[in-house]
Amino acid sequence: MPGSLATLILAAGKGERMKSPKPKVLHELGEKPLVGYPLELSTKLGISKKVVVVGYRAREVQETIRERYPHLKGTSYALQRLQKGTAHAVLSAESHFKNFGGNLLILYGDVPLLRVETIERLIHEYHKRKASIAILTTFCENPTGYGRIIRNGMGDVLRIVEEKDATLDERQVKEINTGVILTQAPLLFSTLKEIRQNRKTGEYYLTDIVKHYLALNHSIATTRAYDPQEVQGINNPFELLKAESVLRQRLIEKWTETGVYFTDPASTFVGPQVKIGVGTRIEPHCHLRGNTSIGKDCRIDSACVITNSKIGDLSLLKPHCVITESRISRKAVIGPFAHLRPGTDLAEGVHIGNFVETKKSRIGQGSKANHLTYIGDAVIGQGVNVGAGTITCNYDGKTKHKTIIGDKVFVGSDTQFVAPVKIGAGALIAAGTTVTKNVPARSLAIARVKQTNIKNWKKKH
Ligand code: UD1
Ligand code: CA
Repeated sequence: MPGSLATLILAAGKGERMKSPKPKVLHELGEKPLVGYPLELSTKLGISKKVVVVGYRAREVQETIRERYPHLKGTSYALQRLQKGTAHAVLSAESHFKNFGGNLLILYGDVPLLRVETIERLIHEYHKRKASIAILTTFCENPTGYGRIIRNGMGDVLRIVEEKDATLDERQVKEINTGVILTQAPLLFSTLKEIRQNRKTGEYYLTDIVKHYLALNHSIATTRAYDPQEVQGINNPFELLKAESVLRQRLIEKWTETGVYFTDPASTFVGPQVKIGVGTRIEPHCHLRGNTSIGKDCRIDSACVITNSKIGDLSLLKPHCVITESRISRKAVIGPFAHLRPGTDLAEGVHIGNFVETKKSRIGQGSKANHLTYIGDAVIGQGVNVGAGTITCNYDGKTKHKTIIGDKVFVGSDTQFVAPVKIGAGALIAAGTTVTKNVPARSLAIARVKQTNIKNWKKKH
């Protein structure tokens, strides 16, 4: 690309219309703050010099970016103390571009869904037309709230008029300003100083730059984004909600193309970092969050919520499982209503059934815990059968203790393991036993009160 290119991201506004004290650009969309989108877009375009204009709760915005995008080290910050409009915001970053003679791509912190290809077309048009400025526009059926692009009979851009300042006729115009512009940095900064305060709002509008460029005989190019959803600005909670559904749809379409099957994309959430193997089917109301990966040919039945977890190939998750920070090997059968908490590590072919909770536990190949059980801080071998209602009593009020169960142990129903306790391989725990001592391999452990039958009890009482 000829000439060097930098990005300036405007993110100083409070976002009054969001009706929330949180800075607008920190509202989350698809598991990321809004301001992350233009930052990632710049990175994908290969732009290393990035400046973010911060103002409202500047430190919080800055810290969030540093925390969430530690790899974007080249990012610097300009402070706009008072938010006096988009032109004023750009000017507050002037000192960052003192020795920069290249081109500047201006992105708004509240326009998250832009595609790389669209900006590449804008950059291409800018250079091809040798323009002084390229503006990204689009056509909206409902342009309410956006600045309108006003052209003459020849189709040349004359100016951009904000909705508040537009005449009734101008408001009919469906071509809108997306906010994205590309221009020469030195020309931009010298021209910005000419911009006057808007009489109605007292703000300095970046969009007024068009009039000034024309007065100086500079050429203006425009590129149209074909999909208006892509340039949708987020100004209120409803627009955030709409963007969320667009993003959701995009991610699901991407996976569908690779051979993943969804029953109801509208109710399914797949986070941007999630990976899904070919042939897997995802049923309605599932949420796949964070750094989750699902193997090939799995079936994730309705309403499972999986966060930062890895699920092996050919696994079956029955409805309503909650799985967090866990690793599940292939051919597992989980649920319905299972709760796998952080640190759960299941080997191949493990079955975890209804109302079973696991935490910080390793369960060996082919072992089963199918009903109403709590397994915490345990290491369970292969081929173990954990009977209904088994509980590891892992907490004594102060510390957590371990339960270690060897291969092929049979645990009868309603057993409690008072940890720390160790069960040798092949042992059998009789139903109803409270295990308080280690059990040697291949032994039977039984601890329950002998049954007494009192004859004719009913008659007496
Ligand atoms: C702006 C454009 C409008 C365009 C629309 C596209 C202007 C005057 N208007 O309107 O033509 O159709 O975007 O989405 O440019 N910001 C600052 N400092 C400020 C003011 C704003 O950093 O003093 C930041 C905001 O944080 C936000 C972005 O600039 O990320 C846009 O500001 P916003 O107030 O949302 O502008 P719009 O009214 O949407
Ligand atoms: Ca906006």
